[in-house]
Amino acid sequence: MAKKNIDWENLSFGYIKTDKRYVSNYSDGKWDDGALIEDDMITMSECACVLQYAQTIFEGLKAYTTEDGRIVLFRPDLNAERLANSARRMEMPVFPEDRFVDAVVQTVKANADYVPPYGTGATLYVRPYMFGINPVIGVKPADDFQFRVFTTPVGPYFKGGAKPITIKISDFDRAAPHGTGNIKAGLNYAMSLHAIVTAHNEGFAENMYLDAQTRTKVEETGGANFLFITKDNKVVTPKSDSILPSITRRSLMYVAKEYLGLEVEEREVYLEELCDFAECGLCGTAAVISPVGKIVDHGKEICFPSGMEKMGPTTQKLYDTLTGIQMGRLEAPEGWIKVVE
Ligand code: PLP
Ligand code: COI
Repeated sequence: MAKKNIDWENLSFGYIKTDKRYVSNYSDGKWDDGALIEDDMITMSECACVLQYAQTIFEGLKAYTTEDGRIVLFRPDLNAERLANSARRMEMPVFPEDRFVDAVVQTVKANADYVPPYGTGATLYVRPYMFGINPVIGVKPADDFQFRVFTTPVGPYFKGGAKPITIKISDFDRAAPHGTGNIKAGLNYAMSLHAIVTAHNEGFAENMYLDAQTRTKVEETGGANFLFITKDNKVVTPKSDSILPSITRRSLMYVAKEYLGLEVEEREVYLEELCDFAECGLCGTAAVISPVGKIVDHGKEICFPSGMEKMGPTTQKLYDTLTGIQMGRLEAPEGWIKVVE
């Protein structure tokens, strides 16, 4: 087996079909054994629940090539747990968490030639997902479901990689109080499509969503949580029941405290205090940590002292430590790294 002939250094965050994907079907109240297949196409009823009522959930994680040439996954058990929580909220059957990890490992192994080599800045993005597949016309959950995992080699989520981006405060809401903002359901992303197109058309890289009830507190972006660094070097992240519990953010808060000795705070963050922070970043599997240089609030610019040229110093330390753990340059906390091969 040999690595594919791909220009790894210049990959963007896009879809490239790889050789194998994992599929398991749920019917008559149980999951089948599951298998790796080659067919990337899905055939289903025109009335499938996912097509009519958007009963679909997903996860995102990455496979990395470490400095010593192994292929590893970062905390896949937490993706398994989050998919199970998403399934419960969406009236879908839970795909057993140990089987989730095994399915991800099998899929990555089967597509090992697509895992970008160490040092290229690229990774293999893994997308597990599940949807209601049988015909449903009255509004109710499906009875039959499909769980799949595919992979695609990716580069940075934002063009320019680690260059600070400018984002806007969105006039649209992403998630309602007591809604589905805290799970990874396709419907949350459908909600954000008009908002992201609007932001892009206005020249912004992303949206900052506020809490829908009071519109005074910071929530998250369409695909990442926020981290802020205060002028006295504390790491602050918004606390809210309507944002996705990011695995990257939870890991970074641990890294900040345990590896870098920084003070960390998970608390409500008010729009009016944004101008007091020294640094801002977006964190997530796809985003890793993408620095934010400027936030525009209806024409008013909030510019972070870290500027538009490079990441702020504390964001950089967090980035280096997290990616050091993921790429095997630094020792990982117990249980964070799952070796594929
Ligand atoms: N918030 C949203 C809305 C996301 O889609 C993601 C991506 O998964 C995240 C945050 C970051 O989560 P994680 O770090 O688990 O990838
Ligand atoms: C991820 O980071 O894995 C996500 O699912 C975010 C998505 C917007 C690509």
